[in-house]
Amino acid sequence: MIGNLIALLILLAIVVLFGYLAKRSWGTKRGALLKWVGVILSGLLTLVFLLVFVAALIGFLKTTIPASNPVSNIKVQSTPEQLARGETLAQLCSGCHSPEAKPPLIGGKENFAQIPNGPNLGTVYSPNLTPAGEMKDWTDGEIIRAIREGVHKNGRPLIVMPTTSFSNMSDSDVQALVAYLRSQPATKHAPQNDLNSNSVNLLAFLFLAGGVFETSVQPPITQPIPDPPTGVNVQRGKYLATVLACQDCHGKTFTGGNPSGFAPVGPNIVALTTNWSDADFIKLMRTGTDPADNMVSENMPWTDYTKFSDDELKSILMFLKSLPKEAPKQ
Ligand code: HEC
Ligand code: HEC
Repeated sequence: MIGNLIALLILLAIVVLFGYLAKRSWGTKRGALLKWVGVILSGLLTLVFLLVFVAALIGFLKTTIPASNPVSNIKVQSTPEQLARGETLAQLCSGCHSPEAKPPLIGGKENFAQIPNGPNLGTVYSPNLTPAGEMKDWTDGEIIRAIREGVHKNGRPLIVMPTTSFSNMSDSDVQALVAYLRSQPATKHAPQNDLNSNSVNLLAFLFLAGGVFETSVQPPITQPIPDPPTGVNVQRGKYLATVLACQDCHGKTFTGGNPSGFAPVGPNIVALTTNWSDADFIKLMRTGTDPADNMVSENMPWTDYTKFSDDELKSILMFLKSLPKEAPKQ
């Protein structure tokens, strides 16, 4: 935070310096050539650094200004049904919030701000979500807001948290998650996860200003979100395909991922699964093997889905079969 403020001030100082040089060149009496070269050169540099400064400031404010999303004062019950459901859903978090990609969610070991083979954007570890982490001091409503709306207890916008999917989570599912998180054994993990030391740097601010990525903050959820109908149906399949974030890799219309995104690129699963039986699909989601008995690559996170019920998985397939096989033409 302090480092970023200093970096912003230095940028501002550079803008002022080149602006001053431009002004001096304008007034120089050492000949027209020198005057115009000086004015144009320092004028351009003033403009460039001004743009960088403004972009960095926008990114800084996006990650710093507290979100005003209200917190509900709900108190989660923690019934055995909630704990079981929460355990199923917690698989969706384990890839990031656990070093071995399985519960308990003691915090990840990966710095998400270090782009693989790319630039460093700061330090962003997935925090410890057991009662040994900072969430023991959070209310249930604050945890629910963090999961669905991407806001830290103190109002800071979170990043990386995949809230575009989770913001659709039903009230009973997100409450089950809270019950499960609180039921985990308090387990200490690497210190970086408990220091609340996550921060991003100037480069990340520029990316944020340019829309390369966004913070996790979502609009406030003020209406109840009911569960989809039980049984096997398209509505339930749509709900799960959304919350389980299949679109991150398989694309908005499930017809194939976008190579320029941060997520792995998945194939067109509408076309791929048209002739699959329920058993084929359930086998893929529980064992990672397709109908031809080929093991899928580990970029397909099937281990996150093994605990979902037969009816839920059948519903996802039914939903996929209800969709157009080709991406809509732009
Ligand atoms: C793609 C990786 C990823 C996934 C998947 C993910 N998280 Fe996170 N989560 C993060 C990161 C990174 C942060 C810290 C962000 C920050 O500090 O700005 C975070 C922060 C949080 C926080 C705030 C806690 C704190 O101490 O600041 C909560 C609560 C949370 N996640 C819950 C969950 C739950 C529950 C799930 C599964 C339903 C989940 N997350 C899935 C990456 C992820
Ligand atoms: C993190 C990225 C990611 C997510 C999330 C994801 N997938 Fe995949 N998926 C992939 C990749 C990559 C492949 C290709 C694997 C391969 O070629 O071995 C794949 C393959 C598949 C296949 C085809 C398997 C085959 O070989 O025929 C199906 C079906 C599928 N995914 C369904 C889903 C569903 C349903 C969801 C959500 C519940 C989902 N995926 C979520 C990345 C993902």
